[in-house]
Amino acid sequence: MAYAQQTLLDDLEKMRGFATVPKPQDIYTWVQWEMARTHVAIIEFWLQVQKQFRTTAPIEDAENFLGFAKQWVRTLELHHQIEEEIQFLHLNPPLDTSTSHDQHTALLTPLRVYHVYLESVSTGIEPWSASKAETLAQAFLPILMHHFVEELHMLDPERLCASSISADTLEAMRVSVATRAKEIADPTADIPPLIMHNGGALDWPPVPWVLSETFKMPMELYLPHKGWWKYAALPLNL
Ligand SMILES: [Fe+2]
Ligand SMILES: [Fe+2]
Repeated sequence: MAYAQQTLLDDLEKMRGFATVPKPQDIYTWVQWEMARTHVAIIEFWLQVQKQFRTTAPIEDAENFLGFAKQWVRTLELHHQIEEEIQFLHLNPPLDTSTSHDQHTALLTPLRVYHVYLESVSTGIEPWSASKAETLAQAFLPILMHHFVEELHMLDPERLCASSISADTLEAMRVSVATRAKEIADPTADIPPLIMHNGGALDWPPVPWVLSETFKMPMELYLPHKGWWKYAALPLNL
């Protein structure tokens, strides 16, 4: 059965439930909050991609739209890569992250198939078909949404507190995530979409400048792919 858009929106609401509080000071609460903010941003980003499937954008503005759409796949892959390389190693044990890991693995093939399709449209091998894109997305969306909700339950603050994991370990994890993200992220491609899908928040994502209503990011981060970002939820008003 097709994964209904309403189910996706319901799952997104569940994630928002963990993401709306002001930035927690307590590290045990922060871990889940940070993850929830990230998951919500990735799904907000997805909604912007999906919204264009049946418009003229994939055909008349193919380079920009497909750039935006392919960046969504990269954003998700980067998130999972950092979890696998950093977070899971800090959390496990005492937490059992194997279910999350298995879900990442289950996503690999359907995501790759979808990405290959976008690539083949980009290179002119295949024509754009909204139906095909939707069908390919249906292969990963239910797994992804289930994963994004379940992973937040895995990081329940009370559960974290009750485990033997120390605050120092969680602090070390936070530092290692930031360090690894700096090593592997392309600032011009990977940072803008988080800022433009954060619901206008000023407390996330963590960036080395002060987010304000009037200053979201340095122009040198935004301009290299500004054609992509017109499809974002909150593009800069240049
Ligand atoms: Fe996650
Ligand atoms: Fe994950």
